[in-house]
Amino acid sequence: MPVERLPTGVGKLDELLEGGFPRDFFVAATGEPGTGKTVLCISFINQGIIEEDRNIYVTTEESRSSIVEQASQFGMDFRAAMDSGRLIIVDALMREENPWTLRRLEVEELIEKVLDAKRNLGRGRARLVIDSLSAFWLDKPAMARKYSYQIKRVLAKWDFTVLVTSQYAITTSAAFGWGVEHVADGIIRFKRVVRGGILRRYLLIEKMRQTDHSLYLHEVNIIKGKGLVILGPVQARREDIALPGGVMKRIAEGTPR
Ligand SMILES: Nc1ncnc2c1ncn2[C@@H]1O[C@H](COP(=O)(O)OP(=O)(O)OP(=O)(O)O)[C@@H](O)[C@H]1O
Ligand SMILES: [Mg+2]
Repeated sequence: MPVERLPTGVGKLDELLEGGFPRDFFVAATGEPGTGKTVLCISFINQGIIEEDRNIYVTTEESRSSIVEQASQFGMDFRAAMDSGRLIIVDALMREENPWTLRRLEVEELIEKVLDAKRNLGRGRARLVIDSLSAFWLDKPAMARKYSYQIKRVLAKWDFTVLVTSQYAITTSAAFGWGVEHVADGIIRFKRVVRGGILRRYLLIEKMRQTDHSLYLHEVNIIKGKGLVILGPVQARREDIALPGGVMKRIAEGTPR
């Protein structure tokens, strides 16, 4: 039987993934700040709204209204989806008097709230975003793997296709605790480089089980009115493979004529 896939809402990315994320997969979008992880999450949920899935968006770094506003800048109406019972945004930041607020960044509370939201939305294929998952272990990075596994195991019984984000430090490009990458069925890695004075963003599918996916690094752009746009694959460029200029100079100086 062919694998059922959920399109991500980013057309070109789906082409690189044989159509999207396999149903019930647990996929991690990883990378440094401002690289497009949240924009991908928003697209994934918007696609779920279009396909009449049950949609849950857990936001720990931005408020509910910030996510709604960001979506509207890409022409996606999250407010209408919330009003019509297609989308619940669980907010962990504002601590307002709302039933869909997390009071503590605790994994048990997260799972409980997500299952409540699913019951509220009703039966059927569901999409879940947790943006970001690393927020749940920032003060205890050694727990990353255990928590990721716990979340994956519990949610697997509920027909969720899950997209989580995991942040990498801008200074070291390292994750806050190892864990989610090994537990995840798929990894979409976002990267950033300043080249020629311009911030460029890239995406690489590092892992997608059961999928003959692209192995190329692709440049991406974030565009008003559209969202995440995948540009062409990056060709091997001289600056990607060459040693830095200073090193080349020292090698040249140290080499006997
Ligand atoms: N309306 C818009 N038009 C063009 N670019 C936009 C627009 N809105 C956001 N962006 C771009 O998207 C970037 C934010 O991307 P995103 O929120 O997906 O980052 P992130 O990877 O989730 O980062 P973090 O780890 O900090 O949450 C902004 O810095 C900006 O460059
Ligand atoms: Mg984000």
